[in-house]
Amino acid sequence: MRAWLMDSAEGVERLRLGEVADPRPGPTQVLLRMRVAALNPADAFLARGMYPAKPPLPHILGRDGVGDVVTAGPGVDNVRVGETVGILRCEVGVDVWGTLAEHVVVPMESVTRVPPGWSLEEMAGAPLVFLTAWQALTQWHDPPTPPPAGSVLLLTGASGGVGIASLLLGKSMNLTVVALSRSAEKGARLKLLGANVVCDPTDSNLVDAVKAAISPRRVDLAVDSVGGALLTQVIALLGYGGRISVVGRGGGTVPDFNTASLLFRRIRIGGVSIGDYTGRAAHTAWREIVNRLDAMGQRPQVDTIVPFEDVKAGFVRLAQGPMGKVLVRVAG
Ligand SMILES: NC(=O)c1ccc[n+]([C@@H]2O[C@H](COP(=O)([O-])OP(=O)(O)OC[C@H]3O[C@@H](n4cnc5c(N)ncnc54)[C@H](OP(=O)(O)O)[C@@H]3O)[C@@H](O)[C@H]2O)c1
Repeated sequence: MRAWLMDSAEGVERLRLGEVADPRPGPTQVLLRMRVAALNPADAFLARGMYPAKPPLPHILGRDGVGDVVTAGPGVDNVRVGETVGILRCEVGVDVWGTLAEHVVVPMESVTRVPPGWSLEEMAGAPLVFLTAWQALTQWHDPPTPPPAGSVLLLTGASGGVGIASLLLGKSMNLTVVALSRSAEKGARLKLLGANVVCDPTDSNLVDAVKAAISPRRVDLAVDSVGGALLTQVIALLGYGGRISVVGRGGGTVPDFNTASLLFRRIRIGGVSIGDYTGRAAHTAWREIVNRLDAMGQRPQVDTIVPFEDVKAGFVRLAQGPMGKVLVRVAG
């Protein structure tokens, strides 16, 4: 099969379109012929060696996607050959070969049918970012529970994959959403998707602008995809008992962080890890996500679809800051 091969930890710029033998499904695994794959920043981090996983080389990146079941290994009882399925979070593209290839092997517990009425493109890029957003929004209670209706939710990187997923799920929970984007154009689109307030994170008056917009409330929960210097401003916006679900750190390390800023408002910071989902928990969360999107008449947002041969251009688009998902049409 043709696949984008990662031969070294020198970045996605060094990926190579090559030929490797088709993988074969083992017990309880299925072989998919890929139709549409999705790119994630984690692919680019892994390709630079900036990710916990160190898979054997050559590796094939790609964690999300939709494909047709072409072979089912022994013991597969939840899907049939010929069905088109999406991939829920698993080790695909992390420790084992991923979806930037014509074929991929996936555990049967990690496939799910495309929801009725959804396009293959809408499905292909949704699971990783929506499951991440779901964990970020619900992780503060056991069992996972949405924040109370009316809570104020702040999103950094709101136009990205996780940001838009958090916005849509936040609106399904009747939250007031403050979305941060450096782009006025993307900010306008975030408003159309339901953001109550949109601000530019590079505005030197960011804290005052957000405070004025939500007064007399303060932020109850922040989903932070950016980190860096923005984190201290996010903390400044939190009210008593405010929480930050830390998703990503594209903005770099946090300078001059004073832990005293957490004390008097009893602020809590907690990491989010998509890798923590078991197959069963991912299916439970995914059903909830699909039901909520369907109830609102909303769908995952697609920014760009590149041909299979143009995966590197897709990664360039991802690094620029897309509005939604960057997808790769593998076949059909
Ligand atoms: N913890 C987990 O399990 C998990 C799961 C999924 C993703 N992640 C991580 O979460 C982060 C976001 O993922 P994603 O898929 O949403 O990425 P994405 O689609 O690339 O979106 C990130 C958005 O953040 C904004 N941004 C980027 N750099 C920024 C900066 N320096 N300052 C302010 N805003 C900046 C951009 O929006 P604007 O251009 O509109 O400002 C961009 O669209 C990544 O680091 C990813 O690796 C973690």
